[in-house]
Amino acid sequence: MRNSKIDIDRETIPNHIAIIMDGNGRWAKKRGLSRSMGHREGSKNLRKIVEACYNMGVRYLTVYAFSTENWARPKAEVDELMRLLLDYLRNAEKELKGKDVRIRVIGEKYPLSKEIVNEIERVENATKNRKTLDFIIALNYGGRQEIVNAVSRILEDAKEGKLIEVNESEISRRLYTSEIPDPDLLIRTSGEMRVSNFLIWQISYSEFYFSDVLWPDFSEKHLKEAILTYQSRQRRFGGI
Ligand code: IPE
Ligand code: IPE
Ligand code: MG
Repeated sequence: MRNSKIDIDRETIPNHIAIIMDGNGRWAKKRGLSRSMGHREGSKNLRKIVEACYNMGVRYLTVYAFSTENWARPKAEVDELMRLLLDYLRNAEKELKGKDVRIRVIGEKYPLSKEIVNEIERVENATKNRKTLDFIIALNYGGRQEIVNAVSRILEDAKEGKLIEVNESEISRRLYTSEIPDPDLLIRTSGEMRVSNFLIWQISYSEFYFSDVLWPDFSEKHLKEAILTYQSRQRRFGGI
């Protein structure tokens, strides 16, 4: 039930929200700060948004933390982003203050440092039985790469005679997101209106919401606005 005109409907909260957290660099530039400071503020904000999603009853939250294209940035910036991610993973359980949150990471692991890969495995394992919120971090993630990997696995399975037909579900179950339902709502901050290689297979029928707010400033209030907009839409999935 809707409590008031501006409150979200708890019963139709999107099951899966995906966020392209964009605008850290511009946030810093506006303040005469380094881009690294923008990323630090962005990672602080992520902690708040995870908590807000948990409290609202969102079941899956996927965030775009680092794309396969982000290696094109200066080494110092890439290093700082990796440092922040490592820091987040190391402190994840403390940050979550006992909340029932499962952490998963999607993306290509091999180019990441051993330290990060170990930490990903540790945290995924430590939280694997938690069921209230799945918090999925897309790290060194690229949607095209994900599909290429799935197709390669299909080829291997076909060679071994394990597969005779290719269909949507055979592809879906070979993606990083195999057990995760598709996003209902995709949010991108900072005014950019593009997908930048994020979950390109999975967002076929997601509702898109673009906000001009830069990621470090994207608050719970803005998230609620996005959800309200989502709740005002009619999804048809090709029907009428
Ligand atoms: C998003 O902020 C964070 C990452 C892509 C890792 P940006 O760093 O892209 O910020 P802008 O787009 O340059 O403002
Ligand atoms: C998308 O943002 C990637 C992440 C938020 C991690 P970018 O800032 O890298 O995207 P483009 O380059 O503007 O498309
Ligand atoms: Mg950007």
